Amino acid sequence: MYFRQLLNDETACASYLLGCKTHGTFAVVDPHVDLVEKYIELAEAQGAAIVAVLETHVQADHVSGLPELVALTGATAYLPHGAGVEFDHHPLGDGEILRLGNTEIAAIATPGHALAHHAYLVTDHARSDDPWIVLTGDALLVGDAGRPDLHAHGEHNVEQMARALYRSLTERLLALPDHLLLYPAHYSGSVCGRGLSGNPVSTIGFERRHNRALGHDSENAFVEALVGDIPPAPEQQSEIVAANRAGRPLVSQD
Ligand SMILES: [Fe+2]
Repeated sequence: MYFRQLLNDETACASYLLGCKTHGTFAVVDPHVDLVEKYIELAEAQGAAIVAVLETHVQADHVSGLPELVALTGATAYLPHGAGVEFDHHPLGDGEILRLGNTEIAAIATPGHALAHHAYLVTDHARSDDPWIVLTGDALLVGDAGRPDLHAHGEHNVEQMARALYRSLTERLLALPDHLLLYPAHYSGSVCGRGLSGNPVSTIGFERRHNRALGHDSENAFVEALVGDIPPAPEQQSEIVAANRAGRPLVSQD
């Protein structure tokens, strides 16, 4: 399996290029608009085609590179079912599996940061049938849980989103084995979490033991702490969400 984490320090976003070298089929997860050429360059250097572009959720803090990457490569776009985007894509259901040669990507519905949010469990069948890596998006970060307010609206208010996130964390992500490598969508410097580590990789086990957002002994305590300490919203949040739903670049406000 090929696996590379690509970082954008300006917005503290992590994205991923991964797939099967034997079959020459790669996917990109949570592409950043500024790195589109880089994903293509890296895949070409491996003699592989980018055939799938996935989002863990519709991003609110940066413009996605998905539309441009799909246009340039002919790859299929995959978003969580119910993401509410206005462009062609394959809506992924909970548990749905995308197979790229020996590399398998399985969707785990993890609502709470966004209602339509998936983590992606990665298995390299060339090594083992056991999953190896989990891409946690904005549900579980290195040192914090995702913020519950950015995609809250209507009956899905901030508290309800925080409760959904608690269940996603305790019933889905923390149900994974400790040895799984955890790769998030953001790291220190991002507005998507509080006190995030500058190290954009961890394990389920390390976060289980040392992530302060997971240290609460009840759902109510988790929710109270998360809702009571929300960082400032990203600049141009609504414009960015609108661009990412439409699959187009950010419209300048100038
Ligand atoms: Fe997000």
